[in-house]
Amino acid sequence: MDQSATDTQRTKFDLDETNLSTQWYNIQADLQTSLPPVMHLGTGQPIRPQNLAPLFPMELLMQEVSQERWIDIPDGVRDVLRLWRPTPLFRARRLERALDTPAHIYYKYEGGSPAGSHKPNTAVAQAYYNKLEGVARLTTETGAGQWGSALAMACRFFDLQCKVYMVRVSYEQKPYRRIMMETWGAQVVPSPSPDTQAGRTVLAQDPDSPGSLGIAISEAVEEAATRDDTRYSLGSVLNHVLMHQTVIGLEAKKQLERADDEADVVLGCAGGGSNFAGLSFPFAADKLAGIKPRLRIIAVEPTACPSLTKGQYVYDFGDTVGLTPLVKMYTLGHTFVPAPLHAGGLRYHGMAPLVCKLCDEGVIEAVAVPQLATFQAAIQFARTEGIIPAPESAHAIRVAIDEALRCREEGAPRTILFNLSGHGHFDLSAYEAFLAGKLQDYDYPAEMVSEALKHLPQVDG
Ligand SMILES: Cc1ncc(COP(=O)(O)O)c(C=O)c1O
Repeated sequence: MDQSATDTQRTKFDLDETNLSTQWYNIQADLQTSLPPVMHLGTGQPIRPQNLAPLFPMELLMQEVSQERWIDIPDGVRDVLRLWRPTPLFRARRLERALDTPAHIYYKYEGGSPAGSHKPNTAVAQAYYNKLEGVARLTTETGAGQWGSALAMACRFFDLQCKVYMVRVSYEQKPYRRIMMETWGAQVVPSPSPDTQAGRTVLAQDPDSPGSLGIAISEAVEEAATRDDTRYSLGSVLNHVLMHQTVIGLEAKKQLERADDEADVVLGCAGGGSNFAGLSFPFAADKLAGIKPRLRIIAVEPTACPSLTKGQYVYDFGDTVGLTPLVKMYTLGHTFVPAPLHAGGLRYHGMAPLVCKLCDEGVIEAVAVPQLATFQAAIQFARTEGIIPAPESAHAIRVAIDEALRCREEGAPRTILFNLSGHGHFDLSAYEAFLAGKLQDYDYPAEMVSEALKHLPQVDG
């Protein structure tokens, strides 16, 4: 067969199972200065891993503060990951042609995992370490339902019970996600719920509250903190969660090499930051080391919940009620409740501290895009590449398309790589609303944000 002809048409860059990562990449090892410490509001002192033992297993707490560049992935975790990993890297040739762009567009597709997104990459690791330390039950929150399904599946594999607090607006919009979680054996309740003090407080103020990730986190944390047999599991934001996701970028680097290409722009949507970090941190390593100084790394967020682009880089609570320790991050204020966007996984008031630090230092950049533009991009993508993306992932597609159009204007054949973090098969009601012209944009809620920012905790730093 004519090799050059096949190479110019090649669309999928697959890796076989022998390429399954054996280690996670920990970007903390490559930061010029360490992350600001996690603080305890009451004492005003940095939190030590031991202080969080009621919530997380010690191994994960040690990963949270580890400065080792590489951390071994246990065989028990790799055995599950190999069910769907390595995931494919696609060259979006049909989209490129539709855009008439000289850009090379690649996407790493995480929607082929059994739960439909990147989230199982960390769910499996977290369930594994909890089981190892004798935990019987995990609680968590879920926005779009993607994280809840991932943890429900992972808990089933390691024989753990699982309770999921699902943000009410998603619970109502996405009954099939709930059924998936229940199929894997999890208990699912809409949040705010009457099961916790945090939920009851919110319901007393607003019985019709659509809920938010921050409220659901408060509920899941409260339950774990008050039960000996139960720990808490978070699907994003924390350092160890971002690290577990780096299998995405480590694979993508190998795949781009096989495509004989090099990324000029790497991007992903960012809710709490985990899929964005998972793809981009292994590339950011080269930027931090001075090997790829011109590489652009872009986090994409919704205009309705723009923590990186409009938030303040200060200490805030990770949840709404104020049960968590304080972390330094770009935040809209922990009491801010975002509009009921269909990209439920991007409705979070803060952002991963690692992503925030890199943003503050200019290693990465951030842009915010409105809801309708993301659905226009999703439709164009579905009609050219076939895959119907999750509304969250559509944020990354929007900016990938915008960058490719810029390449057309400038006649610049840049290589753009984005994370297609999940499929949208359970988000079809959102597509239906969009196609019927019933979806709306939500402006930047300046007044609500400035009100929420008045309630920031007072901490030096
Ligand atoms: C498909 C998908 N992409 C992205 C996100 C946002 O989370 P993160 O920023 O942690 O990747 C979610 C969250 O639920 C999701 O389901």
